[in-house]
Amino acid sequence: MAQSATVTVLADLEHVVARAAEHIAGVLQAAIAARGRAALVLSGGSAAPAFLGRLAVMPADTAPDWQHVTILVADERYVPSDHDDNNGGMIRRALLNYVSVPADQFFPVATYYRDAQQAAAIYSKQAAAVLQAHDGAFDLVVLGMGPDGHTASLFPGHAALQLAPEIRAWAINDSPKPPPQRVTLTAATLSAARDVLFVATGAEKAPALARAISAVQDALANPTRLIRPTAGTVHWIVDQAAAAHIADSAAPGA
Ligand code: 6PG
Repeated sequence: MAQSATVTVLADLEHVVARAAEHIAGVLQAAIAARGRAALVLSGGSAAPAFLGRLAVMPADTAPDWQHVTILVADERYVPSDHDDNNGGMIRRALLNYVSVPADQFFPVATYYRDAQQAAAIYSKQAAAVLQAHDGAFDLVVLGMGPDGHTASLFPGHAALQLAPEIRAWAINDSPKPPPQRVTLTAATLSAARDVLFVATGAEKAPALARAISAVQDALANPTRLIRPTAGTVHWIVDQAAAAHIADSAAPGA
């Protein structure tokens, strides 16, 4: 089923951060209202700490009821949990230290195993269990995009882009974006979603964004195009700098 996609272009990073936080809170609130709980997948990247920080201080009437939210990470750099580059640690510092997600509802990737392969095998099972507990779909997957078009730790042309759908998480040992060792949820797993939000800002993302939303571009060269929720929507919230090559086809935001 072809999925619908929207692109909201906002003036700058500040507006993107605010709108992304609003979008995440709205989707989570709706999921909790409909199903009593919500499963959220979060990524790393430069904008994530900012919009997670906004969520952390949202007033009670607009914030989701975090008690009912389960959180996974879309990918993890294979560094200790207290390392500055660790996405799970970033999510704790930016969000979980301020909101009441129960400890057993946050699933960081364990990075204390001998190698990322072992961590990926365990995370695969954890992601499968969360999906099973949430009727087979995450309520919201929040992703970034690199200048080369990668998302999570799914890089253009990488063998990890074509894994069997039953593989939920995979170890990457040659990430072009440091650090080289990572664990990533697979494209099929990230597509098991009711709603996907991509956040991209900065001029260096403009060429990749134009390819990402162009219907004629090869998905293996543009991994964001592999993230296709079967019965959901894809939203892009971007700034004008990132939208420079698509301005004519994007919906202007506030
Ligand atoms: C990671 C991220 C990665 C990130 C993009 C965008 O762990 O590195 O999950 O996919 O979202 O690289 O990052 P920037 O916004 O910092 O360019």
